Amino acid sequence: MTVSAPAPDLDDMRAIIAQHTHLEGPLLPILHAFQDVFGHVPESATPLIAEALNISRAELHGVISFYHDFRENPAGRHVLKICRAEACQAVGGDALADATLRKLGIDWHGTTANGAVTVEPVYCLGLCACGPAAMMDDKVIGRVDGAKLDQLLAEVGA
Ligand code: FES
Repeated sequence: MTVSAPAPDLDDMRAIIAQHTHLEGPLLPILHAFQDVFGHVPESATPLIAEALNISRAELHGVISFYHDFRENPAGRHVLKICRAEACQAVGGDALADATLRKLGIDWHGTTANGAVTVEPVYCLGLCACGPAAMMDDKVIGRVDGAKLDQLLAEVGA
């Protein structure tokens, strides 16, 4: 996944919001639209969304941070998701994730200094019988171990 988000433009952002305000429950569709267009929900969009939907910025921030799919910052050129759900935890997923984050020197949702990869948690990839599971961009990978992750990260230049 290559994310080269265009610079957010106020008119573009207002247009995205306007396309969804007629919907019942427009907030999630608006956030998904921002994510699709910009690769994240730009901070400069939050006052526009809050005003359009008559909600507080704190409320909006709560929604954005509750849903793991929404980003408040642009992602790296690749996105590695590591499963943190129970079945993967039971077979070492947490230790694998901790070691990976430590090795890359980032925390969850962080991006490596060279912009190569962002690491995000995911809660089940449907590979529960083959955990620990991960996903690099759109490719899901089962039975991930340190060596396999090192190889994946090397392939994307992390
Ligand atoms: S719990 Fe990890 S893939 Fe389902």
